[in-house]
Amino acid sequence: MCGIVGILGTHQVAPVILEALKRLEYRGYDSAGIATVNAGHLDRRRALGKLVNLSDLLVHEPLAGMAGIGHTRWATHGAPTVANAHPHRAGRVAVVHNGIIENFRALRSELAAAGLAHESDTDTETIAVLTRHYMDQGMTPTEAANATLERLEGAFALAFLFEGEDDLMIGARQGSPLAVGHGDGEMYLGSDALALAPLTDRITYLDEGDRVVLTRAGASITDAQGRRANRPLTRVRLDQATVDKAGHRHFMAKEIAEQPAVLGATMAFHCTPDKSALALPERLDFTACDRLILVACGTGYYAAQVAKYWFEGVAGLPCETDIASEYRYRQPVLGARNMAVFISQSGETADTLAALRHVRGHVACSVGVINVPTSSIARESDVALPILAGPEISVASTKAFTAQLMVLLLMALKAAQDRGKLSAQQVSDHLQLLQTLPGLMRAALDREPDIAELAQGLAGVNHALFLGRGPMLPLASEAALKLKELSYIHAEGYASGELKHGPIALIDETMPVIVLAPRDSLFAKTVSNMQEVLARQGRVVLFSDRAGLAEAGAVPQSLAMPEVPEMLAPFVYAVPAQLLAYHAALARGTDVDQPRNLAKSVTVE
Ligand code: G6P
Repeated sequence: MCGIVGILGTHQVAPVILEALKRLEYRGYDSAGIATVNAGHLDRRRALGKLVNLSDLLVHEPLAGMAGIGHTRWATHGAPTVANAHPHRAGRVAVVHNGIIENFRALRSELAAAGLAHESDTDTETIAVLTRHYMDQGMTPTEAANATLERLEGAFALAFLFEGEDDLMIGARQGSPLAVGHGDGEMYLGSDALALAPLTDRITYLDEGDRVVLTRAGASITDAQGRRANRPLTRVRLDQATVDKAGHRHFMAKEIAEQPAVLGATMAFHCTPDKSALALPERLDFTACDRLILVACGTGYYAAQVAKYWFEGVAGLPCETDIASEYRYRQPVLGARNMAVFISQSGETADTLAALRHVRGHVACSVGVINVPTSSIARESDVALPILAGPEISVASTKAFTAQLMVLLLMALKAAQDRGKLSAQQVSDHLQLLQTLPGLMRAALDREPDIAELAQGLAGVNHALFLGRGPMLPLASEAALKLKELSYIHAEGYASGELKHGPIALIDETMPVIVLAPRDSLFAKTVSNMQEVLARQGRVVLFSDRAGLAEAGAVPQSLAMPEVPEMLAPFVYAVPAQLLAYHAALARGTDVDQPRNLAKSVTVE
């Protein structure tokens, strides 16, 4: 979602801001812009579509100046147009914004009554117009920005730049992340450390409600109560903040291929050095826990649904899963012995963060299962468990999904041990089994040529169904989500036994039905459902292991997967789900790493 960069530099900043915006591209956007102050003169350039359009514009109409702000916009209020692109300017102020100003309509009417017009349909422009209004009344830029911030309701990360002020930038954070970067005689603002990585490894993360006044001499931070605040300066590890495709055609391909290594590292981090026992934080204690609540969005939600089978099946712990955007609106009943787990790659998803805040004080413990250790969910949970997948740049989540599964499975083993369902030795046996996972993932990755061929056959269809049973049901949903978001083919994941209660009406010889069915305890039942599809000439594609394929009989198409222990199947079957969507997208020529309309980190509700 929207990305912000600000630089008070010692050289021309527009090209540097453009490069930083490229590192924020992965968040998803549909227009972009830059404003600079040059010898006191404020100017801006904005362009629709990809950054290359802004880059072209800057070639023809360069933007000079050593102070500037830049933005990638993911449209919320107002269509993606140049007029709605940021920075928004009113008089002597320019503003970039990530978030939503909920009271902008009231403010806009108030400003209109005072004779101040708007040029765009956005909520953000109101911030600029209001600041201008206060400056027109004689306030200094800092006073005007502060007065404006007092009036705003909603979520925002903001950067302000002012005409006549070559050495001033103001930032504010409420609900959307913002980081301050410290350079040599330069200062920066950025939505995340990735944006600033080549500029500096010295980062200060702003807290909720913080405001910052930047000059080239440094940053002055105040908290939500207006008191001076000292926020720690952290060194960001550059190897974790710099990302390239490592020879792959797309970030998604690289991230899929990284999974064996990631899963090995994630497991190692949360276990003792000899991997015979768990090494999860003591605070993560399931002894008195009577119910687990797993909350997430998108792919994280499907990881939660897989984990429910583990928490209930292995640990005997009642477990419910919820989509974060629904959770706090259904008046969930919470108990003092409940544990609530929030699963989020970015750690910034607005709905998941809001759900975490909703349960605070009403449950025994809140846990964040996150990839970004400095994220809001990591900082606001009682226990933050890193999934250690490394930067995930492709919008479609892949390695974060399987790394989330790994952490959730380790948690389920801990729950089982704490609750006396598994002995230390039995946990150790499970961990030994888990050590075979990287090898199994590699074996699944080796199936890529066959999966690519199957994907060719899918490229021409408009609809597809994925069927699964047990833990393969959320995998079917995840496979359908991947196919939808990458190739724009309409796809649904369905419980194989539920097919006959409706979706079977869709089956004809044109409908691909991909069945995810390792030869497990549920296999025979899934095969029966598959037969129902075959009997109606559905185009079945069966993903199973050799034993399963032999037992299933004749099917139009199949993929031979490695034999996997039942507990590890959700990890291993994620690979063909991801690769199928990837190759279908290649065949259809869609934008693999940045599918249309999608954002990586959804920081608005
Ligand atoms: C967006 C992304 C998905 C992701 C979801 C949740 O929709 O495109 O890939 O699964 O957000 O994001 P989170 O960062 O909370 O895991």
